[in-house]
Amino acid sequence: MVWRLAQSPEVEKIWCAPGNGGIADLAECFPVNADDVAGLVALAERLKPDMTVAGPEAPLVAGIRNKFECRGMRLVGPSRSDARLEGSKIFSKEFMDRYRIPNATLYGSFDSAQEAIRALDAVDWPVVVKADGLCAGKGVLVAETREEAEAFIRRVLQKHELGPGGSRILLEKALKGEELSFIVLTDGRSFLPMATTQDHKRAFDGDRGPNTGGMGAYTVDGMITPHYEAMIVKDIVRPTLAGLSEEGIPYTGFLYFGLMLTASGPMVLEYNCRLGDPETQPLMMRMDFDLARALEAAATRKLHEFKPSWKPGASVCVVMASGGYPGAYETGKKIEGLADANALPGVAVFHAGTKCEGDAIVTSGGRVLGVTATADSLDAAIARAYEAVGKIHFEGAHFRTDIGAKGLKKMRAAGDAPRG
Ligand code: AMP
Ligand code: GLY
Repeated sequence: MVWRLAQSPEVEKIWCAPGNGGIADLAECFPVNADDVAGLVALAERLKPDMTVAGPEAPLVAGIRNKFECRGMRLVGPSRSDARLEGSKIFSKEFMDRYRIPNATLYGSFDSAQEAIRALDAVDWPVVVKADGLCAGKGVLVAETREEAEAFIRRVLQKHELGPGGSRILLEKALKGEELSFIVLTDGRSFLPMATTQDHKRAFDGDRGPNTGGMGAYTVDGMITPHYEAMIVKDIVRPTLAGLSEEGIPYTGFLYFGLMLTASGPMVLEYNCRLGDPETQPLMMRMDFDLARALEAAATRKLHEFKPSWKPGASVCVVMASGGYPGAYETGKKIEGLADANALPGVAVFHAGTKCEGDAIVTSGGRVLGVTATADSLDAAIARAYEAVGKIHFEGAHFRTDIGAKGLKKMRAAGDAPRG
């Protein structure tokens, strides 16, 4: 977002907290963490930005919008109450059921491991075990066997391995199909759909291994048919926005619908109260409108006047992660080859867990870089992204080699026809 905003003629200056080694080239960074809402409020009171955008979920779920609003400062993002759509999976399922928004059948929610394990007697397999609260993409297991499900339940509810986000779990039916990220920017009345994207949640090639925050994403023209998109809007987006309006103050900001495209139509796997990571990276590359103006329109409830457009073609982001992620990993590894990768045409290397150490950029998190490329076609964008990945080195670097491959195969099999 900082990269895109920095290109806007409307934007004079960008401050970012906490930022990272890449953002530091484009914005003035301050060492205030994203979950330190009091610190962020104090920083904004000092800097007096015209507008603030909340990127990640933690400050939104903690109510940063409300804190800004009551001090007369403008922040694009949902209120604390609306952010519960992401902050509590149980809240979001009850919300969806209230407004008849298609989602996976809930078997039950539990804070006792014994009761959850007992409930496994009555489920279909595989079963999905989900932590209720925020767990940075690590709170869901699609369990094939009873042993796997039991072990995960014990890790979450007895050993508290996921922290407070895992103090309650739910069991739900596993849905079959392909996943799609459908993200809108809304002012509570109108909404502006982003180009559709697909994430790759599992750690390893072939969608194997544990769930992560996302190992790569792509977007390409015609991922779904206009008819299918109309169905998503009618059955899912509109009832969600209408339900939110009915229950509180209308939602402002990005709203992410994580969908499963099942044989009986699109169903919601999750809501996020923000853009997705790594979906944002390919979206920012294909965006052909001024993000600052769009955010301004959302904040002033004039989104209906805004005309978005997207560059034709495709873009792909390959995440380079620290070895061991989403489990334990080491940090402080020197990253080399960034300039060579960035010099390739149509490539931008977005930073996540990095920081500056003297003249060097070193790793500082699980997901380290989002190596992103755009091109006229999906196969060309994939090739460019991996060419850029090949130029970058850090000890233990781990990435998937099949980002976008499933989409490409499907499109080829269907003679380039969109899905739905
Ligand atoms: P969530 O955080 O709820 O999106 O879950 C993370 C990932 O787990 C999703 O992107 C899916 O890959 C998978 N998942 C979640 N719920 C289900 C479900 N009901 N059926 C199948 N896969 C699921
Ligand atoms: N890529 C999924 C997420 O941001 O939660």
